Amino acid sequence: MRLLGIETSCDETAAAVVEDGRRILSNVVHTQIPTHALYGGVVPELASRMHVERILPVVQKALADSGCTPEALDGVAVTFAPGLIGPLLVGVNFAKGVCMANRLPLVPVHHLRGHIAANYLTHAPLKPPFLCLVVSGGNTQLVEVLDYTRFRVVGQTQDDAAGEAFDKAGRVLDLPYPAGAKLDALAKTGNPHAFTLPTPHMPGLDFSFSGLKTAVVNRVHNAKQSGQPFCPQDIAAVFCRQVTDILCEKTKQALQQTGHTQLAVAGGVSANSFLRAGLETLAKETGCQLYLPALDLCGDNAAMIAAQGCFELAAGNIAPQTLNALAYLPLDDQGCQFGE
Ligand code: KG4
Repeated sequence: MRLLGIETSCDETAAAVVEDGRRILSNVVHTQIPTHALYGGVVPELASRMHVERILPVVQKALADSGCTPEALDGVAVTFAPGLIGPLLVGVNFAKGVCMANRLPLVPVHHLRGHIAANYLTHAPLKPPFLCLVVSGGNTQLVEVLDYTRFRVVGQTQDDAAGEAFDKAGRVLDLPYPAGAKLDALAKTGNPHAFTLPTPHMPGLDFSFSGLKTAVVNRVHNAKQSGQPFCPQDIAAVFCRQVTDILCEKTKQALQQTGHTQLAVAGGVSANSFLRAGLETLAKETGCQLYLPALDLCGDNAAMIAAQGCFELAAGNIAPQTLNALAYLPLDDQGCQFGE
C-alpha cells in the first residue's frame, strides 16, 4: 500500500510517499522557520500564505523523488487536526483536490498519531501495544497505543507543553525561535546540578511545565535587572535536567500502572539529548524495550503522516470530501474516525 502524505499543521509544508506504513520512498519538508524567527514565534496568517505558495512544488517533488505517479498511489493521507486552522485548511483542501482528480481515498490523520507512527518508520519490529511519551511543541501526553488506530490518553499537561517551555526558556536566554534544540546544545556545556528550580507536584500521570518555565524566566530577569552575572549554560542544563526528570518519573509511573513492556517516544522534544539519555536509563532500570524515533523524524514531517495513513486506511478510516480541519481534537477522540 502506497500513500502520499501531506502535513501543514504549523510551520512546515511537507509531503512524502510511504509504503506499507514502514518504508519511506520520499520525504520533502519545506520549513518556514527563518520567516517566523523574525517575529519570535509562528505568525499564523503568514504560515497559511506560505503553505499556499509551497504546497504544489513540495507535493510534486515528493512524487518525483518517490518515482510514483498519482495513479500508483492507494490514497492521500492528510493532517486534519490539531494545529493552526488556516495552515491545516491548506493541506486538507489540497489533499481533497488530489483525491478528487485521481479518484483516491482521502485518509484523515491526527497529527499526534503521525508523530507516534514515526517510530514505525524507524523500528521495523515495533508493534502495538506500547506506551508512548508524546512530547511536541503543542502537546505533552502519555498515551497507550492499544493498536495502530486505537489509543488511550492516560496523562497530559495541564498547562504548557514541554516544547513550549523549552521555547520560552530559550527565548529569555536570547536564543532564536524555536529554541529547544539550541537550548539543548547550550546545556551540554553547563552544570545540570548548579542549582534547583521549583518542581511541580501534579497528581496522577498529568504534567505541568508553566511553573518551571516561569522560574527560569524570573531567574534570568532578576539577574539582568540587578546586574548580577549568570551562566546561561548552567541555566539551560538545569532546565533540561529537570524537564527530563519530570518526564521520566511520570513515564516510569505510567509503565508500572499500565504494565506495558515497550516504550516509544514521539514529537519534536524527543530529539532532546538529556531526555534520550534519561529514557535509556529508565529502560535499563525497568527492563522495558525503548524505541526512540530517528532524529530526522522527530520534528514535523509528512512521512509520519503517510505512515499512520496506511494503518488508518487499512482500518477503513476514509473521510468524505466534506472533511473539515479542527484546531483541537484529542488523539483518542471518536472524531478521528470516519466511515462506518
Ligand atoms: O513536534 P514538533 O516539531 O511540533 C509540533 O508538532 O508541535 O515540536 C517542535 C518543538 C519545539 O518546541 C522545539 O523547540 C522542540 O520541539 N525541540 C526541542 C529539541 N528539538 C526540537 N526541544 C528540546 N530539545 C531539542 N533538541
